[in-house]
Amino acid sequence: PGQRPAEGLEIVITAGPTREAIDPVRYLTNHSSGKMGYALAAAAQALGATVTLISGPVRLATPPGVARVDVDSAEQMLDAAERAAMTADIFIAAAAVADYRPATAAEQKIKKGSEDELVLRLIKNPDVVATIAAGENAPFTVGFAAETEALEHHALDKLERKRLMMIVANQVGGGLGFDRDDNAATLYWREPEEQIRSERFDAQPKSALAEKLIMRIVAHYRSATSA
Ligand code: C5P
Repeated sequence: PGQRPAEGLEIVITAGPTREAIDPVRYLTNHSSGKMGYALAAAAQALGATVTLISGPVRLATPPGVARVDVDSAEQMLDAAERAAMTADIFIAAAAVADYRPATAAEQKIKKGSEDELVLRLIKNPDVVATIAAGENAPFTVGFAAETEALEHHALDKLERKRLMMIVANQVGGGLGFDRDDNAATLYWREPEEQIRSERFDAQPKSALAEKLIMRIVAHYRSATSA
């Protein structure tokens, strides 16, 4: 209430990339900086929530008052998320989880051989946010969709397929998105009467966008749970 609209809420946020081991010295990852997830955690804490931030490897300071759990791989992120989600009211998945991981991580460093080709076999990682959303007594679950094309189409597909309550869609590329300080976004959700609604947020610093997103997510959570 007032300046602390998230008072009394436990919010879990995933952030950053994951690292999928190839061997003891190599891994697969992506360009996620973690900035959006960290901005959401800082905003949620400032608005009164108790915040757990499940973070892949990033070079960012932990926001004051936020409990941070560090993970490397998607499997570790799922593990930490399942534990934290048990008591959470709201779960926000801002992490850029690797879709695939090497089928086996070599125990020793893979040596350069005489072959000109090396084949890495990849297997699908678990979907963290979809697993949480499908759980018993699932928290109010919010996902992200970072896309280079057909943003609305992919975002709505993910909203349905992953059984999310809301999804934040953002275009990547052109100075926005991954590893940038500014971001624009559209928030989509389904009303109880089934129609899709959306709210657009113009390009702005991730900290300002994060505060608006947390305000909207908390408001929707409160109206969904008071019904
Ligand atoms: O399918 P895609 O990766 O584009 O979906 C993005 C959303 O799903 C984000 O909220 C992301 O954090 C989440 N996700 C996840 N686990 C995965 C892949 C994506 O939680 N393995």
